Amino acid sequence: MLYEKLKVYANSDVYPFHMPGHKRIGATALPYGIDITEIDGFDNLHEPQGCLKELQEKAAELFGSRYAFALVNGSTVGILSAIRAMTKDGDRVLIARNSHMAVYHAAELCRLDVTYLMPEMIEGLGIFSSVSPESVEQALRANPGISLVVITSPTYEGIVSDIKSISAICHRYGAKLFVDEAHGAHFPFSDSFPQSAITCGADAAVISLHKTLPAMTQTALLLTDSKALSKELKRQLSVFETSSPSYVLLASIDRCLRFLKHGNRAFEEYISRLTQLYQAANSLRHLSVLHDRILSASNVFDFDAGKLNIFCNGCMSGKTLMDILRTDYRIELEMALGDRALAMTSVCDSDEGFDRLLSALKEIDGNCTSTDQMTAPPTCPLPQKRYAVHDALEQDGVMLDICQAEGKVSREYVRAYPPGVPLFVPGEVIGRNVLSQLKALEAAGNEILTDGSAYPLISIIG
Ligand SMILES: Cc1ncc(COP(=O)(O)O)c(C=O)c1O
Repeated sequence: MLYEKLKVYANSDVYPFHMPGHKRIGATALPYGIDITEIDGFDNLHEPQGCLKELQEKAAELFGSRYAFALVNGSTVGILSAIRAMTKDGDRVLIARNSHMAVYHAAELCRLDVTYLMPEMIEGLGIFSSVSPESVEQALRANPGISLVVITSPTYEGIVSDIKSISAICHRYGAKLFVDEAHGAHFPFSDSFPQSAITCGADAAVISLHKTLPAMTQTALLLTDSKALSKELKRQLSVFETSSPSYVLLASIDRCLRFLKHGNRAFEEYISRLTQLYQAANSLRHLSVLHDRILSASNVFDFDAGKLNIFCNGCMSGKTLMDILRTDYRIELEMALGDRALAMTSVCDSDEGFDRLLSALKEIDGNCTSTDQMTAPPTCPLPQKRYAVHDALEQDGVMLDICQAEGKVSREYVRAYPPGVPLFVPGEVIGRNVLSQLKALEAAGNEILTDGSAYPLISIIG
């Protein structure tokens, strides 16, 4: 049934402003004809000597790094492998709290001693700002011996941090920098995008090709300039990544690289489409597609214009906007939350797709009657840590309604989705202020996710 459902969606007139970046161009037949794994003559992903070595060298050249590893298990496998490769058991690390769950899982698996860095919120917008170089330096000074810093840049919403300054600070304090650049694979292909992390001095970075480039879901690259690190990355990838890599996915990386090599014109057209859309959206009276307001915020270093952050300014919820776009205009967005919705664009979008979105926003805007001041939750305070995650998970748990859990120690990750940043990780004390934050996020339309318990029941240390 799933395949039939997918074919119906593919053949519908719904326009995708969501991942993957290839925007579903192409056939709906399953590619059995080229679906092999490592047979004679087709190289070995974990020990590449032939066509896959060539593919990785091509990728390294295009993305401006000395080494590139092709990934078929998403940035997720790159994050697990990189963090394991860049630390030793029990190392002290600094992790930006707005990291993807794969970063938390890597820290848990490697039994790391984690200090979190909570980025500020952009005032009034309810989205995380850049991680400031000053906050990284302050944390490194206050916590001597940190060997690795992990930052997400860009974020889901397109917020970019000053990686050049942050990497210089990390290196001055003897720490390495790993950047989760899953959403920034397109950065090297136009000067209109922010600079890529690897060219700004990150020791390693992971990029999801599938999110913003024409490549199939799960394709990604792990990049580094360091020969020594590349050897350890290779070893860890053999631990975490499948031993039966999909050649359909690898072929999709190959096609993506070919596209990028000759993609100048397509990227110029993409930038021009974005510029025109932002300009035209200035005429909206109630809704807004924010660009300059984000870029000019004092705690934002840079912004990826490819992420369309649409704010409803009180005239409706982001979810209502997303539903109207789906049902009345056949446009599917990436996500909605509270007062806003997110449209993901890529170099594969068409003029028709952009025109359809703009006309729809204008029409919906014309039917709006009210505009409110934006209200957005402030930065969530960091909970107090009682145990390291791996120690907390080894203890017995009991189930309790979250409303009665104040002062108890969480034994699971409690996250607000989207984007899924944990409010509590195992071993943290459930304080009153974070509980209020959780309620506010829930009221704003976030789904509260746990590790499998039936929320509002959560597992606490008994
Ligand atoms: C910031 C961030 N990092 C990492 C990932 C994981 O990437 P992938 O889906 O390629 O495994 C995601 C997924 O959405 C993400 O948003």
